[in-house]
This record gives sequence, structure tokens and C-alpha cells, in this order.
Amino acid sequence: MRARRLLGAAGLATLAAALWWRKNPSACPYGQRFWVEAPHPVITRDRLRQVLAPQAGERVLEIGPGTGYYTLDIAEWVGGEGRVEIFDLQQEFLDHVIARAAESGLGNVVPTQGDATALPYEDASVDAVVLTAVLGEIPDPTAALREVRRVLKPDGRLVVGELFGDPHFTARASLERQAGEADLTVTAHSGNWFAYFARLTPGS
Ligand SMILES: C[S@@+](CC[C@H](N)C(=O)[O-])C[C@H]1O[C@@H](n2cnc3c(N)ncnc32)[C@H](O)[C@@H]1O
Repeated sequence: MRARRLLGAAGLATLAAALWWRKNPSACPYGQRFWVEAPHPVITRDRLRQVLAPQAGERVLEIGPGTGYYTLDIAEWVGGEGRVEIFDLQQEFLDHVIARAAESGLGNVVPTQGDATALPYEDASVDAVVLTAVLGEIPDPTAALREVRRVLKPDGRLVVGELFGDPHFTARASLERQAGEADLTVTAHSGNWFAYFARLTPGS
């Protein structure tokens, strides 16, 4: 009886913590990076490659790279003539990815620290943007998407990846609403309701 009550209390505490997290978006701390280093089922690197369709020589902006789960692959896809801009709120994540890129001999990854709601890039200067497991951590996701829209070239694309179980998971319906407010449209979807990549393009 006592064990059942304890289990019930633990379950309620977990649920309360999950709800609090959803209502109070915040960046995953560098100290908890083991979460982002775990395998990303369904939203695999191969699937990202299909949805992003990267081309050699492109300039790709990855916002919130974490420890670089996708970054080194993107850097190889765009090749030495291309460039991956990594942009993160936390300098520790950027340093981590740059150290990994250096170990792999990749010199085309460029770090910049800042907040996704104020991107320091010129209008229409980026071929593609990647945002995986990041949008729900941003208190004003629509403001971040407007910034993405601003820096994307008119024929550019944004790929958003989401994985259920992340306390800041963004469901596809919420993404579509936020995207519409930022003048972006979902044009392709790969995965399922709990783990997906969506491809978005400028305009409605
Ligand atoms: C859950 S991790 C995802 C890491 C990686 N994209 C992946 O899928 O493994 C979220 C990342 O977004 C960054 N982030 C959160 N809020 C941000 C913001 N407002 N501006 C820029 N980066 C942010 C965090 O610092 C962290 O690196």
C-alpha cells in the first residue's frame, strides 16, 4: 500500500515536472548533454539528408546544434566549398562541436553565439536552415521562425526535426500554426506523429 502511494506520488511529480517544462521553455543545459548524444530514432542523419537535399557549396545554418549530432554530416554534404554556420545560445555547445569538427579535419563549420530570435545574418543569405529539437526550447518560437524566414534565400528551405519524449516536443499542428505566422509553409513531411522532419519553404 505504501509502495503504491509512493509510486503514485512519483508519477504525479514526473507529470507536474513535464507540464512545467512545457509551459516554461528553456535551453537544455550543457551539463545535460547526454540527452542529445543519445540515438535519435526516426529522425536519423540519413532521413535528414533526404529531406534537406543538401548540395555541395551551400551555406547551411544549423540553429541549436547541441553536441553536433547532425553537424559533421552536414559539413561533409556541403563539402569544402560550402559552409555550416552553427548558432547556439550556449558557447559550451559551440566549443564542443568545433572541437569535434577539428578532430575530423572539417574546417567549414563556423560558430556564432546568440539567441535564435535575433540572428546576426544578412537577409536572404542562407540556402537552408536546420532546427532539430530546438523550437520548443525557445520562449517565442514564432519570432525565431520569422528570423529564419528573413535570412533564408527566396528559394531556400528550413528543415524542422522533432522527437516525442523531448519535454519541448512541437507537434506538427503547432509547427504549422507557428510557421504560418512567420510566412513559411510546410511542403514535405517525413516520419510519423511522434518523430518527424518537416521541410518548409518561404511564402504561403
Ligand atoms: C535539445 S538540444 C538539440 C541539439 C541538436 N539539434 C540535436 O538534435 O541533437 C537544443 C539546442 O538548442 C539550443 N538553444 C535553445 N534555445 C536556443 C535559442 N533561443 N537560441 C539558440 N539556441 C538555442 C540549446 O543550447 C541546445 O544546443
